[in-house]
Amino acid sequence: MKKQVLVTGGTGYIGSHTAVELINEGFDVVIVDNLSNSSLDVLDGIEKITGVKPDFEQFDLTDKLKTDAFFKKYNRIEAIIHFAASKAVGESVEKPTLYYRNNLVSLLNLIDNMAANGIKHIVFSSSCTVYGQPEILPVTEDAPIQKAMSPYGNTKQICEEILQDSIVANKALNVIALRYFNPIGAHPTALIGELPLGVPANLVPFITQTAIGLRKELSVFGNDYNTPDGSCIRDYINVVDLAQAHVVAINRMIKGLNQDAFEVFNIGTGNGISVFEIINTFEKVTGVKLNYKVVGRRAGDIEKVWADTSKANNVLGWKATRTLDETLVSAWKWEQYIRNKK
Ligand code: NAD
Ligand code: WQD
Repeated sequence: MKKQVLVTGGTGYIGSHTAVELINEGFDVVIVDNLSNSSLDVLDGIEKITGVKPDFEQFDLTDKLKTDAFFKKYNRIEAIIHFAASKAVGESVEKPTLYYRNNLVSLLNLIDNMAANGIKHIVFSSSCTVYGQPEILPVTEDAPIQKAMSPYGNTKQICEEILQDSIVANKALNVIALRYFNPIGAHPTALIGELPLGVPANLVPFITQTAIGLRKELSVFGNDYNTPDGSCIRDYINVVDLAQAHVVAINRMIKGLNQDAFEVFNIGTGNGISVFEIINTFEKVTGVKLNYKVVGRRAGDIEKVWADTSKANNVLGWKATRTLDETLVSAWKWEQYIRNKK
């Protein structure tokens, strides 16, 4: 019988791509999502790509009674990948209690149910945001965690701590925290991708929406940073590469290969790319000229960060393989697909 994996937030951006990779790898996938930041159409996309429509339950994971009832109904789950969370940094400053409640309580409800139902393995979606501005680049997993710059970032730090405390109390529990750098792009079929509500806060969705004419122009937030071209540097990771890291992490725990009950890995490409390099590459691979202007720095932006991926490469046995060119092409294909669908 296929092993069953619960994907929370599985109709969201990274969760949907991970559901596809899990199904392709022979797992039985059940998705829980409250659709607060995604839609049911995503299930059709997953089915078109894989030929399989995953089981789906719509409820809020902060609801303890509903979460308990879910685990009574689905009693053969082997592992959990926990994506469900609120993720907008700016919104978290405006609504801190919403972020703390949603991101912390949903994890607590899962951990309690793992203990109650004998589920041993969980992969947690963490973020490079925990490093703040690292002193040494590329940043390794043992770099100091810095005081979070937003309630959102703080929820990721606290969730990692909650999981670290939980492995002490529950000796059967195994945790892999994946610290994602900047996920971009879409499935190469363009059947699933990122669907930001309203005005995108992130660079690549803003670029594709500008290119398609939904936004007048892209603002480049600062060209006076201490970087070769003056714009900020990030590590942009293809979402399918990122999704595949989750499959590797799940297999590692199910096969008992993890060396510690709590492991953490950077999931990035290892390459630092500037905002201008993203713009130039997008224009080169799509042939679309982008309307952009340089404006002042965005409050709270880190100057430069990129991952040391040697632990993920050597210990996890995972490496990003997709190029920036193909990743930006996939983002552009997805933007055209969703706008033409409407
Ligand atoms: P997303 O918003 O597309 O997906 C999250 C999904 O979780 C959504 O479908 C939403 O409806 C659902 N959800 C939220 N709260 C829920 C709740 N209480 N109960 C049930 N469902 C709920 O976000 P994403 O980009 O796919 O991010 C997935 C995870 O990765 C998040 O934990 C996020 O913090 C983390 N992460 C994302 C990025 C990024 O840049 N996208 C970077 C680092 C880490
Ligand atoms: C990338 C670069 C901007 C928009 C955020 C979260 C982080 C993590 C990933 C979840 C920066 C510049 C952007 C625009 C621009 N998420 N930019 N014009 O800020 O690195 O990280 O997403 O954990 O926690 O903070 O990503 O895509 O917003 O920005 O010039 O319109 O693009 O200044 O240098 P960021 P981003």
